[in-house]
Amino acid sequence: MRILVVGSGGREHALCWKIAASPLTGKLFCAPGNAGIAQAAECVAIGAEDVETLTEFAAAENIDLVVVGPEAPLVKGLVDRLEAAGIRAFGPTQKAAEIEGSKGFMKDLCARHNIPTARYRRFTDAAPAKAFARTLPPPVVVKADGLAAGKGVIICNTHSEAEAAIDGMMVGHQFGQAGDSVVVEEFLDGEELSFFALSDGTHVLPMISAQDHKRVGDGDTGPNTGGMGAYSPAPVATREIEARIMREIVQPAVTGLKAEGRPFKGVLFAGIMVTGDGPKLIEFNARFGDPECEVLCIRMMSDIVPALVACADGTLEDFALRWYPESALTIVMATRGYPGSSKPGSVIRNLPEERDDAIVFHCGTKKNAAGEIEAHGGRVLAVTALGKTVREAQAKAYQVVDQIQWPEGFCRRDIGWRAIAREEK
Ligand code: AMP
Ligand code: GLY
Repeated sequence: MRILVVGSGGREHALCWKIAASPLTGKLFCAPGNAGIAQAAECVAIGAEDVETLTEFAAAENIDLVVVGPEAPLVKGLVDRLEAAGIRAFGPTQKAAEIEGSKGFMKDLCARHNIPTARYRRFTDAAPAKAFARTLPPPVVVKADGLAAGKGVIICNTHSEAEAAIDGMMVGHQFGQAGDSVVVEEFLDGEELSFFALSDGTHVLPMISAQDHKRVGDGDTGPNTGGMGAYSPAPVATREIEARIMREIVQPAVTGLKAEGRPFKGVLFAGIMVTGDGPKLIEFNARFGDPECEVLCIRMMSDIVPALVACADGTLEDFALRWYPESALTIVMATRGYPGSSKPGSVIRNLPEERDDAIVFHCGTKKNAAGEIEAHGGRVLAVTALGKTVREAQAKAYQVVDQIQWPEGFCRRDIGWRAIAREEK
């Protein structure tokens, strides 16, 4: 098969690495890719959101399957455009991707199909939004409706903070149009996990769960990021919790979206809070998580390509995926300054060769004229390892981190702490 992966992060490197290992893969392209992805795929200089040029390229190259990594091209309608051109694609259509593109749509879908989630209301005016916020016990959560590069959620410890957050989004246009409409909701208390399931529009196949570390600093402190590390399995995700997530959250969403004329094909990423009351949905994403995808790919024993094709073709029924029982852990190395601004172009030396139990996925790298690897972007590397326990995977991953020479980079030193505390209790 001729396969095109769209995107340029650690998630797409992990997907390319896994797809390249399939005996079904003849030729693999990635657009636009990065210096690490170039080891597994031929990178082509087309932006991930350039829907027209991607479609032209896929048609000209007789691509059998396009795998879309990030949310932005999904929300822009890349899959619709590819399908209209007769090209098979893994990922939801624009209408189905609205579960990630509009938080209000996602919440209303939950309300229509009895999916457990935080109590909420949607607003297009600031005054009623503030009035509703005052009726909720703090902390109160204020969310911009649209995509805001992972920054559109504000947890407010007091009612006046909530009012300021609402004003910032609706009056100050802090997130542009994404904040013209907001969701105000109750705070859910508990432990968070990421759950992934494949869907072909009708059938759902559970994958695995993971946990990520969103805050930039050790001990889960400091500003929110795209994710500083992740591990799988997540000890909080017992069999019973996973069965409830499938039964109460994932399956009703897939059935509901189909009934509403927006069948969801691709991977459904449910952000879950495990509360005293059971699992509740925080949000849906229409794609793999990053860095969760890195741990998911290294734990996947089965060939990924037939599963991606089955989602696109509607043949996921009776499909099975096998997973390595080992734990996986990934540590994100970022350029100093992240999640604020950071200087691009620092050189990374002594990157290790891939091993069976450890691999460095690239999230934001380029090769310079001298053939050296340079950091470009906030998150730059995802150092990923397998071990018998999370503790062992963590030790292996930090061993690799410590070997990499990159003074301009940093990482957290406590990735996996929650899981390790449970393992060693
Ligand atoms: P998001 O940007 O949508 O991924 O949300 C960022 C983070 O905000 C989530 O991962 C949660 O940690 C937190 N969050 C969002 N909504 C709630 C809620 N209702 N209660 C508690 N935490 C929340
Ligand atoms: N790591 C969370 C995400 O990809 O949204």
